[in-house]
Amino acid sequence: MVRKFFVGGNWKCNGTIEEVKRIVAFLNEAEVPPEDVVEVVVSPPFVFLPLVKSLLRSDFQVAAQNCWVRKGGAFTGEISAEMLVNLGIPWVILGHSERRLLLNESNEFVGDKVAYALSRGLKVIACVGETLEQRESGSTMAVVAAQTQSIADKVLNWDNIVLAYEPVWAIGTGKVATPAQAQEVHSELRKWLHDNAGVEVASSTRIIYGGSVNGTNCRELAKQLDIDGFLVGGASLKIFVIYLIKQPE
Ligand code: G3P
Repeated sequence: MVRKFFVGGNWKCNGTIEEVKRIVAFLNEAEVPPEDVVEVVVSPPFVFLPLVKSLLRSDFQVAAQNCWVRKGGAFTGEISAEMLVNLGIPWVILGHSERRLLLNESNEFVGDKVAYALSRGLKVIACVGETLEQRESGSTMAVVAAQTQSIADKVLNWDNIVLAYEPVWAIGTGKVATPAQAQEVHSELRKWLHDNAGVEVASSTRIIYGGSVNGTNCRELAKQLDIDGFLVGGASLKIFVIYLIKQPE
C-alpha cells in the first residue's frame, strides 16, 4: 500500500504573533508536492491556533499539541477536544514524551486521551518513544510496544491515527537516530500493529519519525521503507518546508 507522506511541525512552546506570521508566510510560499502525495500539518501553541488557521494555505492543516482526556468542565487550564473541533482544528498531538516525562502522563492516560479525541472527530498524532536509559538497557521495543498497546486497548479504528516514533534521546539533542536505528523500530512497530491490530492497520497506518530531523538528514531517513514522514520540532520553526522538498521521489 502507498501511504501518503506526512510532515508535521511541532512548534512546542514557542512563538510570538510576529514570528507566527513570518513562519506561516514562509510556508505559504513553499513549492510542495500536491496534498494527495504529502500531508502537511503545522502545530503551534494553543494561543496561536486561530491565527495560524486563518493565515495558513488551504492545502496545509493545523494541529493542537494536546487536549484534555474527557469532555470539558471544571478542569482549569485544560483545552477540550470539543473546543478544537469547534475551532475547526482537525489534528491533535497526544502522548508527546515531554508531556509523558514532565507531566507524568501515563500510557493508560495517553490511551484514554487518544480514544476520546478520536471519538470527538479529531485525527491524532500519537507519540511513542524510549529514553536513552531504556535503549541502552535493550528495552526499546518493550517500551514502545507497551505505549502502543495502551492505545490499542482503547482504540478499534486506526484510520485517523498517525503513529510518531520519537526516541527521547534524539529530541532536541541533535543526536538524530540513524536511518537504520529508526527503520528497525518502525519495522518492529509495523509488525506489532500487524500482530495486534491486524494486517490492514499495519499496512495503512503511517509511522513517522521525530527527533532532531533537519534538512540534512531527512532525505536518508525518508528513504527507509517504514518511515512515512516526520514530526519536526526545532527545525520546523526555521526550515520546515525543506522536508517537503526532500520527501522521497
Ligand atoms: O514532536 C517533535 C519533536 O519532539 C522533535 O523535536 O527539536 O528534536 O526536532 P526536535
